[in-house]
Amino acid sequence: MTTDDATETGLRTAVERELPRVRADLEQLVRIPGIAFPEFDHTHLDRSAEAVATLLRGCGLDTEVVRAGGHPAVLGRRPAPAGAPTVLLYAHHDVQPPGDESLWDSDPFEPEERDGRLYGRGAADDKAGLMAHVAALRAFNDALPVGVVVFVEGEEEYGSASLADLLRLHHDKLLADVVVIADSANWDIGVPALTTSLRGIVNCVAEVRTLDAAVHSGMYGGAVPDALTALARLLATLHDDAGDVTVEGLAVGSGSTLDLSAERVRAEAGMVDGVRFTGTGSLADRLWTKPSLSVLGIDAPSVLQAGNALVPVARTKISARLAPGDDPVKAFAALRDHLEARCPWGAAITVTLDGAGAPCVIDTTGPHYEAVRSALRAAWGGVPPVEIGVGGSIPAVSTFQAEFPAATIVVTGVEDPDTRAHGPNESLHLGEFARVCLAEALMLDGLARTTR
Ligand code: BES
Ligand code: MN
Repeated sequence: MTTDDATETGLRTAVERELPRVRADLEQLVRIPGIAFPEFDHTHLDRSAEAVATLLRGCGLDTEVVRAGGHPAVLGRRPAPAGAPTVLLYAHHDVQPPGDESLWDSDPFEPEERDGRLYGRGAADDKAGLMAHVAALRAFNDALPVGVVVFVEGEEEYGSASLADLLRLHHDKLLADVVVIADSANWDIGVPALTTSLRGIVNCVAEVRTLDAAVHSGMYGGAVPDALTALARLLATLHDDAGDVTVEGLAVGSGSTLDLSAERVRAEAGMVDGVRFTGTGSLADRLWTKPSLSVLGIDAPSVLQAGNALVPVARTKISARLAPGDDPVKAFAALRDHLEARCPWGAAITVTLDGAGAPCVIDTTGPHYEAVRSALRAAWGGVPPVEIGVGGSIPAVSTFQAEFPAATIVVTGVEDPDTRAHGPNESLHLGEFARVCLAEALMLDGLARTTR
């Protein structure tokens, strides 16, 4: 049985009624700069977890702040009415660092609305995902048709290091029939999406050393190698001339049914005129099902401080995105072997793992998915969801799949092509956010009507 017209109308009205307060609470959350990266003040994560706990208590959930050696997560629960399924709602309350604040048009931690979008770090990723859960719960007042577990992680953007322990520790409290992970994106303004795969990630730091200490570049250059040139040559071996990854042993997928137009990717990414795409295959395959390697940073003398001296040591952070189906342990070994084997001129190299997360493939069949699809379609005025892959990573998905193999996993989200998550001027499209909130309320109602 699907949601009837009267219930749908009632939920539309209820979500509309709740939106102003949901928006105000979202803004309050954006003002808390909870960042799990080292070198940031982690007391903000405690404040942010407390703020989330207060919101969940306000929804009538039995709520606690939990940790397993990492940053605080929030767990709220409300038992299922007799015979009804339980739905776990996931989001994360930590955010990415703001980066260069001079590139923001408004303060990253002071939300500001411009042209129908709410700007601020975490305004979309993923405080809006969290607030969509809150909006749906509030829409039902005290008449929730399903059991609910809300789990809001505090270190997703820094690799979810303690997530597996948290899920194991609280396994029984987290048991659910359906897990809704609201941390992904929709296809376009006006077109909802269901995420069917995400890439994994392996980050590593490589240090290349050629000398005990810096020496005069004129006296020794020509015969004695500097570490920065050695590193540059090493990094140049990661791709072939077409820009495909050359590291052997990484899984490579293909066959994305949907594709992204070149114009769309060019515009969304802000590619400078004349810059060409890298790699081969459809753009969707390049972004969703094939591995990628990017150089995220280099430690070496800055240009301003560079004297005429050979650089003795240089470090780099390399990020690999893994194809769905790949294994982060194997992928790291493949990358390390590649770097060690190709380090030029006998330079000493050490490669250290700096965070990993597994890719995932999501099965979108079964009765729960019928309810999910019809909820999305109704919330978007009859437009059915498209199935998309995602090039980014949500390690939580595979962690939930491993801990709760019987649960149906649903990956939704609030992001749209202009969200600019992780970059300056991250923003939330407020019109789409309203649809996400309604979709989630309709989803809870629809899931309550599924018979297992
Ligand atoms: N919300 C993103 C994942 C995402 C990216 C979904 C793009 C849809 C489109 C998530 O918060 C994220 O950025 N994850 C990190 C995980 C990493 C730190 C292990 C990522 O992908 O870099
Ligand atoms: Mn996120």
